[in-house]
Amino acid sequence: MKKAVFPGSFDPVTTGHIDLLKRAALMFDSVVVGVLVNSQKKSLLTLEQRRELLERLTMEFDNVSVDSFDGLLVDFVEKHNACAVIRGLRNAADLEYELPLAQGNQLLNENADTVFLVSRPEHSFISSSAVKELYRYDADITPYVPEEVINYLKENDIRPV
Ligand code: PNS
Repeated sequence: MKKAVFPGSFDPVTTGHIDLLKRAALMFDSVVVGVLVNSQKKSLLTLEQRRELLERLTMEFDNVSVDSFDGLLVDFVEKHNACAVIRGLRNAADLEYELPLAQGNQLLNENADTVFLVSRPEHSFISSSAVKELYRYDADITPYVPEEVINYLKENDIRPV
């Protein structure tokens, strides 16, 4: 059984994340989404809210589950007995950021291999940070996040940070 982890802050989960997740779920027997507990970034959603949204959005996939982690990603990989870490690459800047992380993880645990999925062109400029900024200035975020995210923000009266 080939299991992969898909780690991130998911604050909030974007259309780009969901696309990567769908593709990873076709490549691996199972995928565990790993929601980072302590993101350094100022967060819009609490850990519970980020998890809840991901759980709702992944209900349709029977080989995807959601968990959270604090500390090192390699420990999360080991906890789930996974053989790969999934990360998306939107551009060269992502590669520069991701390469040392992937190599660092490999040094910490030689079994923690990173599999990069190239983002679709239409998702290449989407980021959770950009979504938060747009939301702060009341701009339309509907092209960048699943509809459930919009509804969730409204229903729970979540204000921009
Ligand atoms: O969605 P993000 O914020 O880009 O995700 C970044 C994430 C969670 C993949 C990264 O911050 C991470 O792996 N954090 C855990 C800490 C860790 O393992 N650091 C050592 C890397 S060599």
